[in-house]
Amino acid sequence: MHDAPSVTAGDWYAPGFSIQTWLERTPWRTLRGTHFGMGGEEPHPVFWDDPLIREIYKIDVATFLTAEQISVEGISKLVSMAPDEASRLFLATQTIDEARHYEVFCRRMADVGVTPAERQAMVSRVTTRELQTFYDLIREQVDRGDLVSAMVAHNIVLEGMAYPIYRYEIKYWSKLDPGLSRMIQGAFADEVHHVGFGEAFVADAVRLSPAVRARVTKLCREASGLMNNVFDSVVRKYIGLYQTVADRHCDLMGDIQIFPGKLMADITEEEQVRTLNTEIQRELSRRLAAININID
Ligand SMILES: [Fe+2]
Ligand SMILES: [Fe+2]
Repeated sequence: MHDAPSVTAGDWYAPGFSIQTWLERTPWRTLRGTHFGMGGEEPHPVFWDDPLIREIYKIDVATFLTAEQISVEGISKLVSMAPDEASRLFLATQTIDEARHYEVFCRRMADVGVTPAERQAMVSRVTTRELQTFYDLIREQVDRGDLVSAMVAHNIVLEGMAYPIYRYEIKYWSKLDPGLSRMIQGAFADEVHHVGFGEAFVADAVRLSPAVRARVTKLCREASGLMNNVFDSVVRKYIGLYQTVADRHCDLMGDIQIFPGKLMADITEEEQVRTLNTEIQRELSRRLAAININID
């Protein structure tokens, strides 16, 4: 009777969404041998020599924290709104994943000398007006108690956005702080799993109801526009700093290829961030195709 259903679930269900699978793929595999998401790697000596590197490092980690904070808050609320046992169990595992991401990034901030109070100040500082508007849209879906829209906002839009950004950050920091790259890789593996659940769950809900489909379409259209604004604001605010670091440490970072075939030595940071934004929009299109939504 090992294949007989043990929990209530919708048609979206697959055994990969169980807590058992979560144990096997996350604590027992991806995170095995890590401590706060790292495997004992040390930063490159220039990381400690150049304060500007640490400045953008803190901006990056603080920005990760803004997203993880939204995720812990939002997903933990969705646990109590889940329509069946299987989705409740999955969302409980996602809650612990998001809380863990939040914890490891806080740990890393402390490792580089940032106190919790300073970290909180940095987190508010990096939350641009555009980023705040984007996060407000996500929060609003949870607060309205609309589970499907909240799942779309978190597990399709926000986490879909994470794919290209995490890939970018893993490469950018690979030589300066391989430990952070490892930490991000661990979080990335979790986000992929969350997106898989979000797609299955939302695709089913959209298939079953034209009203839900209309709401989801409108939300995705709005979110896509806000994501573009977020990128423009990041470029305006921080790109100069990133460019200075890349130029100053070209000998160390120049041969990193964040995007295939494009060495960091041969491409400006602004071009990289524009490429990143294109990739994010492309990823969003992929996610939308998976849930059968068209926003054009
Ligand atoms: Fe996360
Ligand atoms: Fe996630």
